[in-house]
Amino acid sequence: MRSFAGRDILSLKDFERAEFAHIFEIADRLEPIARERRNTDLLAHKTLVTAFYQPSTRTRLAHEAAMHRLGGHVTGFSDAKMTRAGDFYQESIKDTVHMLEYYGDAIVMRHFQQGAPHEAAKWASVPVINAGDGWGEHPTQVLTDLYTVLSEMGTIDGLTFLCIGDMRMRTMHSIGYALSQFDAEAIFVGPEEMSLTDDFKAELDERNLQYEEAEHVADVIHRADVIYMEPVVQADYTAGRDERGEQVGMTPENYQVTRKLMADKAKSDSIILHSLPRMDELPPDVDGTRHARYWEEAYNGVVMRMALLALVLGAME
Ligand code: CP
Repeated sequence: MRSFAGRDILSLKDFERAEFAHIFEIADRLEPIARERRNTDLLAHKTLVTAFYQPSTRTRLAHEAAMHRLGGHVTGFSDAKMTRAGDFYQESIKDTVHMLEYYGDAIVMRHFQQGAPHEAAKWASVPVINAGDGWGEHPTQVLTDLYTVLSEMGTIDGLTFLCIGDMRMRTMHSIGYALSQFDAEAIFVGPEEMSLTDDFKAELDERNLQYEEAEHVADVIHRADVIYMEPVVQADYTAGRDERGEQVGMTPENYQVTRKLMADKAKSDSIILHSLPRMDELPPDVDGTRHARYWEEAYNGVVMRMALLALVLGAME
């Protein structure tokens, strides 16, 4: 297995099964620090730079919280409009990253352009972590999600994932690639105009993922062990910021998971994940059911970023 020290985390395309297992093991070892709300000194001499060209609540703050839990330091920006990349100069990723690499020991980047963190990694002498790039990928979110499944179900192998939402979404790409490393199958349900692209299907076929597409959640939810949700009423992920208009669409029933649907049709032990934020596809009254695991998923977001930062910064091998 390749070492994670100094490595960029850009995509789950090239992650191998043993690498998933290793990250999950490191997360297990670090988890008590987060659970006991302790801060340690594992990364006391390291600084993380956050470069967020798109809004974020969870991904940026979970990385920052992880860094604090490990005793490290954080600097960066959460709004590119306050930098030279977002004003008259439109400073390039190359020039920006040449600065950021002097300010810290790893860079976590979210960008509206697909491939922007990959471009940053070409120029940075420190590890770059992809915190979501346009419609591209969201590897740290999906590592969090699979760690949650493993923690809650004890396995990823043998499970059926029902993936509901906009198939252009970056999490859907990362989870497709990731599941191909496990003996798991996927059922994708989304609106036709947001369905799996032919290119992505070819990649899933090439990776031998067992998957199918369905039209209505209600037709397939009885088969799901993990219900993996994203909104279909979506922001434009290729924009730096997508403000909410006066009219916001409603989620069609095909893509909603309600308390009644879970009671009527879902497996008794199935779990629901949602990387959040949500719209009306997942009504708040589902939160009180035994199936909801998205708050655990959010907590694991900190644990997973602790593991990734400890690994790429060489504090754990
Ligand atoms: N799940 C997720 O990426 O959330 P944020 O957009 O708030 O980071």
